Amino acid sequence: MSIIARDSSRIIREICGLAPVMPVLVVNELKSAKPLAEALVSGGIIALEVTLRTPVALDVIRAMSEVAGAHVGAGTLITADDVRAAKQAGAKFGVSPGATAELLSACEKENLPLLPGVATASEAMKLLARGYDVLKFFPAAASGGVTVLKALSGPLPAIDFCPTGGINANTAASYLALDNVVCVGGSWLTPPDLLEQECWTEITKLANQATKLADCR
Ligand code: 3PG
Repeated sequence: MSIIARDSSRIIREICGLAPVMPVLVVNELKSAKPLAEALVSGGIIALEVTLRTPVALDVIRAMSEVAGAHVGAGTLITADDVRAAKQAGAKFGVSPGATAELLSACEKENLPLLPGVATASEAMKLLARGYDVLKFFPAAASGGVTVLKALSGPLPAIDFCPTGGINANTAASYLALDNVVCVGGSWLTPPDLLEQECWTEITKLANQATKLADCR
């Protein structure tokens, strides 16, 4: 059991508690970063996961980190290099679709709180043994969704989840109603066409609707 890992999960739990939905952001244009973060924050969605899937992602993290009220993390962390780059860019936390020994060690060394991903009980148990008790359940819908999360709550009551992958405005509430779900992740707050057309007001509306899901928790 690592104290650093326990601390990491404690911080991740706080971040997941900031809003019912953590948007999974794929940002192609650096110029979108600030207005997008402002649109989400003004709608009440303040913990933002910027995926390292575009060439500008690290600069997007830097730019969004300047937006008042935004808590910006880096998603799609795969390697130790990703962790170092995210930390240098100012990410306050990291998210990964999975977890490798290399990734965990890098986050612990860099002091970057991590939401590591799992899809099975064995993966979750390995992380719990190391001290991680808040985990991303990924890909949530494809891995059995609400049914599997309910089934895991019996044998693994110490673990809470942020399910992500295949969740949308219609299904989020059923996940948030579960006792072992702290928040859900998803990309539905930032449809690519709204991003391309810079429809920031529409994105604020989607964010606002998402914050109302807090009533389901
Ligand atoms: C991802 O990593 O892409 C997330 O799981 C988002 O999934 P979604 O696009 O189905 O919300």
